[in-house]
Amino acid sequence: MDQVNQLDAIRDYVYTVFNNDSTGHDFFHMERVALMARHIAKEEQGDPFICEAAGWVHDIGDRKLFSGPQQAISDLYKFLQSIGCSNEDINRISTAAEDVSFSKGKIPSVLEGKIIQDADRLDAIGAIGIARTFAYGGASGQLIWYNEEELQQQTSIQHFYDKLLHLKDSMNTDTAKQIADQRHQFMETYLKQFFWEWQ
Ligand code: NI
Repeated sequence: MDQVNQLDAIRDYVYTVFNNDSTGHDFFHMERVALMARHIAKEEQGDPFICEAAGWVHDIGDRKLFSGPQQAISDLYKFLQSIGCSNEDINRISTAAEDVSFSKGKIPSVLEGKIIQDADRLDAIGAIGIARTFAYGGASGQLIWYNEEELQQQTSIQHFYDKLLHLKDSMNTDTAKQIADQRHQFMETYLKQFFWEWQ
């Protein structure tokens, strides 16, 4: 199988894994991250194939999404072998997809990993990031916001202040920084309007 067909097969595999997600980590999140990673790779001289493939699979094995993370990862490796990915490609894809999560707090060591982290973080901000935040909050039983200060900590709006408004300054590549600036401004505008209406 050539690389174009391998990417098609990976997309179909990812569809079966994330098809039913309602936490903001659905198939279309994976698709946006894959295509954004490919775009950034072209601008930043990364490997577009590795970046797109790692973008598709970057959330497979995430502890908050999988009850058996190790099983999900070993199933993925078996699948990649079955479509003819070399061991070298599989290693590069898994290295790039590792350590992207905000909670792990790591900066990936390889360029392809930095690109996947940027693509994933870009999908957490802007209009789509806002939609995903409330989808995740709803799926986790969180309120949108709360009047009393001690109960604000667990709300979706608090998540903007804890995480989303910091992501702009954590981008690894110049390409992602530029895209992040515009999405960040939109979130600031959104929050102003939110609190204006909340009164
Ligand atoms: Ni993700």
